[in-house]
Amino acid sequence: MPGSKKILAISGSLRKGSSNHNILRFLGTIMPADFDYAIYDGLAQLPHFDPGFDNDKPPAQVTEFRELLNAADGIIICTPEYAFGVPGSLKNALDWTVSSGSLDNKKVALITASTGGQNAHAAMLLILGALNAELSADETLLIPFIRAKMDSEGNLTDALTIESLKATFQNLITRIA
Ligand SMILES: Cc1cc2nc3c(=O)[nH]c(=O)nc-3n(C[C@H](O)[C@H](O)[C@H](O)COP(=O)(O)O)c2cc1C
Repeated sequence: MPGSKKILAISGSLRKGSSNHNILRFLGTIMPADFDYAIYDGLAQLPHFDPGFDNDKPPAQVTEFRELLNAADGIIICTPEYAFGVPGSLKNALDWTVSSGSLDNKKVALITASTGGQNAHAAMLLILGALNAELSADETLLIPFIRAKMDSEGNLTDALTIESLKATFQNLITRIA
């Protein structure tokens, strides 16, 4: 729809059948009709961050990623924790946005869905702060034991988690509407 608000969703997990990806798919189903919603699928193709290539002509995948971020009115990041930290592929993507300022004053919601996830969640808040993203406390959500809150098809089964996700998402929608 022309003029509709755009939300770009990014999953920190590349895994087929990922819980984080399934959460983003669920959010797509509750998106207001006048919003344009896309899940970014280029994370695995982004080259490793190299300041030497972070110039006027960066790799094509980086340019495309930055353009998608620039065009979005809001970003939603949903990530697991690996080894007490942020998954490398997600951190790599975020490193490409430091010099471009693609997240500068951008409205971002953060969901960390993992076994525990506290460390990645805290690290993501720091990283997004460094990138000058606009985050609001009611648009951040930590979901521990995520695998126990989904069925084998990746559908959310935990009522409280579904409600928390809806509320978090609605807050982002309201902020950018
Ligand atoms: C290499 C590896 C390291 C992990 N380390 C952590 C960890 O430090 N903390 C945590 O909460 N979960 C950890 N997990 C478990 C993940 O949170 C869990 O597998 C989660 O479901 C992954 O997200 P996904 O389903 O979207 O792929 C780890 C998983 C893997 C594969």
